[in-house]
Amino acid sequence: MAVKPAVHGGQVHRAARELGVPLSDICDFSASINPLGPPQSVRQALLQSLDDIRFYPDATHAETKHTIANRYGVPEDNVLIANGATEAIDLVLRTLSPSRVWIMEPSFSEYRAAAQRNRLRVASVPLERPDFAPPWDRLVEEAQSGDCVIWNNPHNPSGRHVTRDGFSEPLKALAERGVAVLVDESFVDFLADEAKNTALSEALQPGSRVVVVRSLTKFLAIPGLRFGYAIADRAWVASIDQLRDRWSVGHLAHKAASVGLRDRAFRDDTWNWLRDEQQNVKAVWEPSALYQWQPTWVNFFLMRWANDELSRHLSRTLFNRGILIRLCQDFDGLGPAYWRVAIRSRSENEQLHSTVQEILQDRWPSV
Ligand SMILES: Cc1ncc(COP(=O)(O)O)c(C=O)c1O
Repeated sequence: MAVKPAVHGGQVHRAARELGVPLSDICDFSASINPLGPPQSVRQALLQSLDDIRFYPDATHAETKHTIANRYGVPEDNVLIANGATEAIDLVLRTLSPSRVWIMEPSFSEYRAAAQRNRLRVASVPLERPDFAPPWDRLVEEAQSGDCVIWNNPHNPSGRHVTRDGFSEPLKALAERGVAVLVDESFVDFLADEAKNTALSEALQPGSRVVVVRSLTKFLAIPGLRFGYAIADRAWVASIDQLRDRWSVGHLAHKAASVGLRDRAFRDDTWNWLRDEQQNVKAVWEPSALYQWQPTWVNFFLMRWANDELSRHLSRTLFNRGILIRLCQDFDGLGPAYWRVAIRSRSENEQLHSTVQEILQDRWPSV
């Protein structure tokens, strides 16, 4: 049977249609969205800004550039605003037009899709197991001047991350070879010690070929509204801004981002929730012969079932009950025995685990 490429983030709509239920009845562990959001501050700001949708959005992106610049201590001219990290990735590849795009697998499917949309050549390299570590030596040796390496840190779907001491030397070595690096940090906000894990200072060096791409859709829980950005060399940002649609980000998305980025209490609540829930899911998914559970640093985890049949049976049965997980059949180097599971509220996490146990008892009573 041919495997259809998964439409990321789109499962919830299909499930609601097929099951004949409203979106709110679906418990979605397939997209890694902060269950605490959207923050109350953002909801309020959206309601208050509704009337302003009669105007075109600010094409200079002044307020959001300013907010991001303040929040991360970066100059405004180095900030590129986008309609989600996905648009930022597309814009960077389109403008850079590298001779080859290096993708470390398994990876977020939009890297390849964006390269293909822009008619770019792709070279894949596997991440090194068991830690999903980037194959830096190979990249430094094989990537050529004019190429672009895409690297996702923290990494979807493994939940692993590399701290600055593990990546600053390889990024420097790649830069010396004239290789650009797009660092997708869409999940970095979930790390409380974000400063130790970001490549922002590499991106801010004059003439840098490192671009940091980030998303607010996961942390603020606004995937349906969309907001992302990139931090890059200012000349690069200026040339991308020249070429792109300046109205691709709507007024409400700008508002949500400006207010959400300033909401310190929401940030602290998220870090506290995640620290507790990472411990809880680890305890709940206690060691079993039926699966292997991967340690995680962010708001999702990867697990591997003993075989494809068991994994598919469980995910199909969960789907029929309105519970979605991400079956990793289309991730290069993984397969249908792997699940990526979002970490959600305590009760939802426990409900997922108990429902899986119940399904297992039905079919494999000896478990
Ligand atoms: C690693 C990674 N980068 C980027 C994105 C897309 O983010 P956005 O919703 O901001 O386009 C995703 C979405 O799942 C992702 O997993």
